[in-house]
Amino acid sequence: MSASLQTSSGSPNAALEIYIEGLKNAHALEKQATQLINRQLERLENYPQVEQLLRRHLGETEQQIARLDEMLASFGEEHSTLKDLATSLTGNLAALGHTVMGDEILKNHFANHAFENFEIASYMSLITLAELSQRGGHVAALKTTLEEERRTAQALHDMTGELTRMYVSRTAAGAKADR
Ligand SMILES: [Fe+2]
Repeated sequence: MSASLQTSSGSPNAALEIYIEGLKNAHALEKQATQLINRQLERLENYPQVEQLLRRHLGETEQQIARLDEMLASFGEEHSTLKDLATSLTGNLAALGHTVMGDEILKNHFANHAFENFEIASYMSLITLAELSQRGGHVAALKTTLEEERRTAQALHDMTGELTRMYVSRTAAGAKADR
């Protein structure tokens, strides 16, 4: 911990420490998201609407990482380099997205849906933490990211029925349906 965080005023500093940890966790989460998305893009063959959504969100995720880098850099050198250790929960979500199964397209869809909603809650929490730790200057960037995650989660949510119908009809026709 840096000396600047060890002042005597109590709770604002607690919020700040939690906030900085939260930013680091979000950074690790987004790095993991890029891996998950890239892995799916390499394998997708028959579901162009998924490919299009993932490609768009990959670009957004790279911007989100840049935003987090900038926020972390504002806390100084010791916070600007990250090990990006994944938490066990997101590790489990990621593992879901790495599973090769006959219904891979559906399992990945469920994992993507879970992942985006996990991110939504993370950024909502970060916005509150930014406010509590007097880092109001970060809120606009965090809200931009939150909006991107919400749009992506909604698009995933909305394509669930169509994706399922496509999977069934390709399977029924004896066509390659898994990815
Ligand atoms: Fe995301």
